[in-house]
Amino acid sequence: MNAKGDAMKKATFTLSRERKIAEIDPRMYGSFIEHLGRAVYGGIFEPGHPTADDEGFRRDVLALVKELDVPIVRYPGGNFVSGYNWEDGVGPLEKRPRRLELAWMTTETNRIGTNEFCSWAKKANTEVMMAVNLGTRDIDAARNLVEYCNHPGGTHWSDLRIAHGVREPHAIKTWCLGNEMDGEWQIGHRTADEYGRLACETAKVMKWVDPGIELVACGSSGRGMPTFGAWEATVLDHCYEHVGYISLHTYYARRRCKNDMNYLAKPLDMDSFISAVAATCDYIKAKKSSRKTVQLSFDEWNVWSFVSNNDPATKRWDIAPKQAEDVYSLIDALVFGGMMIALLRHADRVRMACLAQLVNVIAPIVTANGGPAWRQTIFYPFLHASRFGRGAAMNLDVKSPAYDDADFGSAPYVDAVAVVDEAKGTVTVFAVNRNLEDAISVEADIRDFEGYAFTEHVVMDHPDINAANTLAHPNSVVPHSKRGAKVKAGTLTAVLPKASWNMIRLARHGRERHK
Ligand code: AHR
Repeated sequence: MNAKGDAMKKATFTLSRERKIAEIDPRMYGSFIEHLGRAVYGGIFEPGHPTADDEGFRRDVLALVKELDVPIVRYPGGNFVSGYNWEDGVGPLEKRPRRLELAWMTTETNRIGTNEFCSWAKKANTEVMMAVNLGTRDIDAARNLVEYCNHPGGTHWSDLRIAHGVREPHAIKTWCLGNEMDGEWQIGHRTADEYGRLACETAKVMKWVDPGIELVACGSSGRGMPTFGAWEATVLDHCYEHVGYISLHTYYARRRCKNDMNYLAKPLDMDSFISAVAATCDYIKAKKSSRKTVQLSFDEWNVWSFVSNNDPATKRWDIAPKQAEDVYSLIDALVFGGMMIALLRHADRVRMACLAQLVNVIAPIVTANGGPAWRQTIFYPFLHASRFGRGAAMNLDVKSPAYDDADFGSAPYVDAVAVVDEAKGTVTVFAVNRNLEDAISVEADIRDFEGYAFTEHVVMDHPDINAANTLAHPNSVVPHSKRGAKVKAGTLTAVLPKASWNMIRLARHGRERHK
């Protein structure tokens, strides 16, 4: 029964090996650090902080990044990269120029550059996904950066790296060909034909320097762009054979939605966005009679209010001011969790994804300068997926009670996806209940996973959907264990509390133990 005395609503799904989507590429759990606001300076790097290491990196932040187990981090932008001279950020510190940074109207000191970031990445157990500047720069700067980072030595740029104290190449495998080049806000914004040609030639030459690299071409900066679809088709027409991936970016803002239920339904938009870009890639594949399939790199995704300056004291050209420091509530985490589920449901095409961003700027991790670091609400769905969502993604064909939404028609209250690790003998179901009034029970047919028993149900909920974690109250919204779920006679039953993020885990037990 619910609060009104009605019978509890029920969702059903089936866990079947026949509904395997794909093995999940670990890079699905990537993230993003841009030279923006306090992401780098005051975020990952704060010399003088009580936890700072010998290079000035905050150990408390490193510990939280490691907790998230992020396999790849995109760097150095974002919009920032389109005005960035990578040469400014290498070599002796005293020679590094201060620049007017025109993407975010700040001053860039270049205290942190390629080598420092790669060193941080090593400490964080992560790879770097490097973006090259195709706004103000071109083929030359890009190929030189590949040589600087990846060539062993004996050439101008590789020897310069060695002279800068980095003997071993950084061996960066994944490279982004610019950022959001379709957006008129972008420094050096281009038409699809202009960008497609440049991306093609840059990709070709970068691969001549290092044939082992993988390249991501810029897709649209959002599906709402007037050129969406046509942009992808034109760009890929130019560079299809030279790139492995095309990028997708999306942010959903509560304040731009019709109401909270509309906000909660936004992951449905992400689902169809992914399908549309995959279809466009395949159209070009067919047009070119190509044997290769271009995959998707969803290298910016999150919820974001789009308030980019949340500190009224910030002035133009400040160094590392507070920018885009969204405080995330429970409802944000529910939308975020829905987005994570949508990504996993498309694991056959989305091979890389980057939660944008990682520290301070629209981020799961927040720091106080000189003070502690803490976890926002969105930290937890990402943590659960990254830690327990390794293996094969399974479509559950969820049948859920639904509500009417002006944009999506019928929107299901419950959405879920499962990840199976056959080797470890584990099944993890990620589920969101978007119903803000009522709990919903789930009944799942898991007969295909005979011998699997219930191990835990972790829930994140709160009586107030606006509750958030802050410096004063860093643990207001945290996951907890829930009792009551069970597996009996091939059926998993559980109750998803109202407005909740859920992770339900099962494990294979030996026959003897099971008896
Ligand atoms: O992630 C913040 C910004 O959002 C990035 O710099 C840009 O690529 C996107 O518009």
